[in-house]
Amino acid sequence: MTEPRTARSLLEVGTAAHYEDAASYDRAYRRRRHDVAYYREVARTFGGPILELGVGTGRVAIALARDGHEIVGVDRMKPMLDRARAKLAKETRATRDRIELLRGDLRTLRLRRRFPLILSPFHVLQHLYRRDDWERALATVRAHLAPRGRFVFDVLFPDPRWLCRDPYRLYRLPDVTVPETGRRVHYRESFDYDPVAQVLVIQMHFVDPAIERGRPGHHRWAPLTHRQLFPQELETLLHYNGFAIEERHGGFANEPLDDRAVQQVVVCTLRRGFRAR
Ligand SMILES: C[S@@+](CC[C@H](N)C(=O)[O-])C[C@H]1O[C@@H](n2cnc3c(N)ncnc32)[C@H](O)[C@@H]1O
Repeated sequence: MTEPRTARSLLEVGTAAHYEDAASYDRAYRRRRHDVAYYREVARTFGGPILELGVGTGRVAIALARDGHEIVGVDRMKPMLDRARAKLAKETRATRDRIELLRGDLRTLRLRRRFPLILSPFHVLQHLYRRDDWERALATVRAHLAPRGRFVFDVLFPDPRWLCRDPYRLYRLPDVTVPETGRRVHYRESFDYDPVAQVLVIQMHFVDPAIERGRPGHHRWAPLTHRQLFPQELETLLHYNGFAIEERHGGFANEPLDDRAVQQVVVCTLRRGFRAR
């Protein structure tokens, strides 16, 4: 079979580079609160203990633990977990005691424990690129979800207009601060979509303005690779791996999933009578 043009090595780097600098990650998403509010409401509705797949720096998990939920968080990136641990150290003893953080891959995780609620917030599953990755990840969810439990996650709604962007164009976004130096740098992104792999490669460029004046300065770029999941395909993947969609929305305020949707926020249950082959 022909290999899609997005090389496996790029997918590997694109699943890690953005998460090497966990302090910058937290800084970049410090104002992203709408999804945290949504997952707090989900946890209030369905109850814990909770398993979070792709827990990152604990952005969502710590809020849930503060609310009184027990939570086990798993991530493959050590810098993200180190930062989550450092943040937890500043929490109350009660909050700290409710969170367990584990390093692991959500495609192979086996804890021999079941949870009434499994979450995977903020596009984690867009780092599953091939059918085999999805099969293994959803087998993990089946192995850990209690009967009548809920699996809740979000992925971006693929917008064809965004996927058609000129890959050679750099889009200027607001400047950002490098946490270690406190210096402001220009931030730009470029987007290259591979329509066969259905992978969007987002190149994140951080350039010290000094460089543009011919002087030495900070210049870093990091690729972020995101599998695009079209709604029918997502439903098919879930169905054939043992899940039924209970609810899905186009945003965290339960917006309809229609042509204005930005996210696909999905609540699913185990499908009755499903037997894995
Ligand atoms: C965008 S972050 C989301 C983190 C957190 N859920 C949040 O809402 O801030 C994606 C996280 O998924 C993790 N991740 C990606 N693929 C993974 C895998 N196969 N197994 C475990 N973690 C994974 C990354 O390391 C990263 O921390």
